[in-house]
Amino acid sequence: MKLEAQFVTSAFSASECPRWKRAEVALAGRSNVGKSSLLNALTGIKGLARTSKTPGRTQSINLFSVGASLALADLPGYGYAKMPERVAQRIAASMTEYLETRENLAALVMLVDSRRGPANEELQLAEIVRARGLTLIVAGTKCDKLNRSERSRAIASFKPLGIEPILCSSSNSEGIEELRRRILKIAG
Ligand code: GTP
Ligand code: MG
Repeated sequence: MKLEAQFVTSAFSASECPRWKRAEVALAGRSNVGKSSLLNALTGIKGLARTSKTPGRTQSINLFSVGASLALADLPGYGYAKMPERVAQRIAASMTEYLETRENLAALVMLVDSRRGPANEELQLAEIVRARGLTLIVAGTKCDKLNRSERSRAIASFKPLGIEPILCSSSNSEGIEELRRRILKIAG
C-alpha cells in the first residue's frame, strides 16, 4: 500500500515549521536507528526521505504531507558521538523545542533499535511525550536482524517503557502495516 505523501520542507527550528492544521506524527530516535527508512516503508515511496549508512544523515526536521489531514516529521537523530558538539547541541535543542512546543503534534513514533532496547534517552523522550499527553507509539526497528531467542529478549528489554513495541523491519516489511494503521488512526 502507498500513502499519498510529499516532501514539504526542512526546518531547523519549530518556528520554521509550516503553519497548518495537519495532525503531525513525528519519528524520533537515535541516529541510524532507521527513521528515514521507516518513513519510506510507511509511505511506500522509496527515496522520499534520504537514508544513509552513515549516522547523522538527517540534521533538520523534514516534513511530509500525507493525504489531506496528516503530516509526518522525520526528526534528526540524537546520540551520534562523532558529530561536532556544537552541531549535536543545536540538533538536540531543535528536536526538544519541536517536541515540547509544536501545537499540532499529535503523536510520536519512538524508534528503538530492537537489538539495543530503550536507554535513558528513550525514557526521557517518552516522558516529554507523556507530559504533553500525546500518543506514544514504540517501534522496535531492524527486527529482521533478530533470531527467535533475541526476539523474546528484545521484547522483554522494552518493559521499562511500559509500552509494548511494534517490532518492525523496513527491509522485510514486518510490522509496517500495523504501524501504518496506528498512524492513520491518529488523523481520524
Ligand atoms: P539519521 O538520519 O542519521 O538519524 O538515521 P536514520 O534513523 O534516519 O536511519 P536510516 O533510515 O538512514 O538508516 C540507517 C541505516 O540502517 C541504513 O544503512 C539503512 O539501510 C539501515 N536500516 C534501516 N532500517 C533497517 C531495517 O529495518 N533493517 C535493516 N537490516 N537495516 C535497516
Ligand atoms: Mg534519517
